[in-house]
Amino acid sequence: MGLRFIFMLTRNDRTVDDAAKHLETALSLGVRHIGFKDIGLPVGDLKALNATIQASGATSYLEVVSLDRDSEVVSAKAAVDIGINILLGGTRVDDVLPVLKGTGIEYYPFPGRIVGHPSVLEGSVEEIAASARDLASRDGVHGLDLLAYRSPLPDIPGLIAAVCKAAGKPVIVAGSIADKDRIALVRQAGATGFTIGTAALDGEYPANGIELETQLAAIVRDVANLNGHLSPFGKKGLDTAFASFTETWSPRIAGQVNDMQIKLAKFEGDFTWHFHEREDELFLVHRGRLLMRFRDREEVVEEGEFIVVPHGVEHCPVALTETCEVVLLEPATTINTGTAEDARKVEDLATV
Ligand code: NI
Repeated sequence: MGLRFIFMLTRNDRTVDDAAKHLETALSLGVRHIGFKDIGLPVGDLKALNATIQASGATSYLEVVSLDRDSEVVSAKAAVDIGINILLGGTRVDDVLPVLKGTGIEYYPFPGRIVGHPSVLEGSVEEIAASARDLASRDGVHGLDLLAYRSPLPDIPGLIAAVCKAAGKPVIVAGSIADKDRIALVRQAGATGFTIGTAALDGEYPANGIELETQLAAIVRDVANLNGHLSPFGKKGLDTAFASFTETWSPRIAGQVNDMQIKLAKFEGDFTWHFHEREDELFLVHRGRLLMRFRDREEVVEEGEFIVVPHGVEHCPVALTETCEVVLLEPATTINTGTAEDARKVEDLATV
C-alpha cells in the first residue's frame, strides 16, 4: 500500500466553516482520507461531513485538539457519536480506550510529551520511541499520530524512522508538511500517512494556483508519483503504430501487461509451420484477412476478429491479403517461429 494523504478540513485547530464545500472538492479529486476536528462546527454538521465521507467510500478521521483530560474524553465521545473511522491524537490513552471499546473506531494517539499550543513535541528520540513502543503495545491502539515536525530535534526523518521501528504499527505524521520534499522524507522514513490541512486551504503547497482544487490536485499527483502510481504510458493508436514500420514477419513490441507483450506484426504470404512449447498466442486482425492453418482444419480470421492458439498446437499463419496487420498478445518469452528453425526467426524485437 502506498503512503496515505489525509486531508484535514481544519485551520488553526478548528474545522473550517466551509468544510462541506471543501469536502466536495476533495472527494471529486479522489482524496480517500479526510479528517476534521470536533471544534469549529456544530456536531450535526460534523455528522453530515462524516456521512458524506463514508458514503463515498473514503475514510473519516477526527483529530483530538485539546490536551486536558476532560476535553480529550469529550472528543473521544464525539468521535463515537459522529461515527468516524479513525481517532487521531491525544495522549490520555487510559481514559480514551474505554470510550472507544467495542465501537470499531481505530485509535492513533500521540507518542511523546506534547506541550503548549500550538503543540510542541518534547523529548529525545529515545524517549519518544519508548513512548511509541509502550502505546503501540496496548490493545485498542491501532497506530500512532506523530507530531514529528513539531519537535525541535535536528533529525526529523530519523525520529520518524525510530518511532515506526519502535511502534511496529502504522504511523501517521501530522502537522507542518507543505511540500513534496517533506512528503518524500516522511515516506522514506517508513510512515503510513501524513496530514495536510492549513497549507492546502491557504494555498501554500507548491502548485499552479492557490485554489483548493489546484492545491489538492498537486498533492494527490505528488503522492501518486512517490507511490509509483503514475503510469508512464500514453495511449497508442494502432493505425499510427502499424504505419511506423514496413517489414513483414518482424513483430514490434507495442506494450507490456505483466509478463505478456502486445506485439504488432505485418504478415505477407505463408509463414512457417511451428508450435510453442509453453506460450499461448492471441492473433487479433487489425487490417486484412488472416488464414490460420492447423493440422486438422483452418480458420479465416477477419478484420476485428481474433483467434487464440494454445501452446503445443501446430499452426501456420497465412496472409490472405497483400499484407495483414495483426496484434499479438503473448508472453515476452515467445519466439515467433516457436521450436521451428526458420530464417524469419526474430529474437531481438524493436519497439514501436
Ligand atoms: Ni506461433
